[in-house]
Amino acid sequence: MRKLIAGNWKMHGSLADNEALLRALCGGLAAGVHADVAVCVPAPYLAQVQALCTGSPVTWGAQDVSAHEAGPYTGEVSASMLRDFGCRWAIVGHSERRQYHGETDEIVARKAQQALACGITPIVCVGETEAERAQGDTEIVVKRQLAAVIHVVRHCISEIVVAYEPVWAIGTGRTATPEQAQAVHAVLRAQLRAASASERRVRILYGGSMNAGNAAALLAQPDIDGGLIGSASLRAHEFLQIIAAAS
Ligand code: 13P
Repeated sequence: MRKLIAGNWKMHGSLADNEALLRALCGGLAAGVHADVAVCVPAPYLAQVQALCTGSPVTWGAQDVSAHEAGPYTGEVSASMLRDFGCRWAIVGHSERRQYHGETDEIVARKAQQALACGITPIVCVGETEAERAQGDTEIVVKRQLAAVIHVVRHCISEIVVAYEPVWAIGTGRTATPEQAQAVHAVLRAQLRAASASERRVRILYGGSMNAGNAAALLAQPDIDGGLIGSASLRAHEFLQIIAAAS
């Protein structure tokens, strides 16, 4: 399976910065790339990213999507709107949204369903907090988060991407060791296998302080099918190194 390296820009960027980053990224990939590459950008920049990346190996997506199809939901962006801008991906259930915006497992599942209904691949994030890991609850937490999505999207489950992002590793510089990450990925893989005969199509990404120095060891694990990269995706040179490690 081709690995997927996806950048999550979070709330960073400007028209000028995005253009410089994407020109460097697309230029760096012009000679060929052996992984799938994506950037998940703030919604106002989707048109710009579409204009700059069309015809390049870089695909693009959003960092969130509404759980609703349309209607009186001020501030929300629907999956069909994302589709209008050529989005291939939508992150759903990132821990920052679960934590700061009260997103429950059920809301995350409905967001995944909305994305799928519009032909957008949801990148479903799961991950435990430091306290949950300390209590030995990592497996319980990630399985509960994924189970909610499996329950709602059912036969489409092989169409999603899963991202394991331990909350304690996000933006902290503390990466899960390859062994720690692989152990959780294997749990998620088994859960997907029990839910779908086509589970091998589901890529399980690792996210949390992945960088040019640790990417190769993480990506060498049997159940790590790519990465969801935050801060390192804002530096074209480093993002290109991570993509090279996946190729
Ligand atoms: P960092 O790579 O900055 O730790 O962020 C990871 C992340 O949250 C990607 O979604």
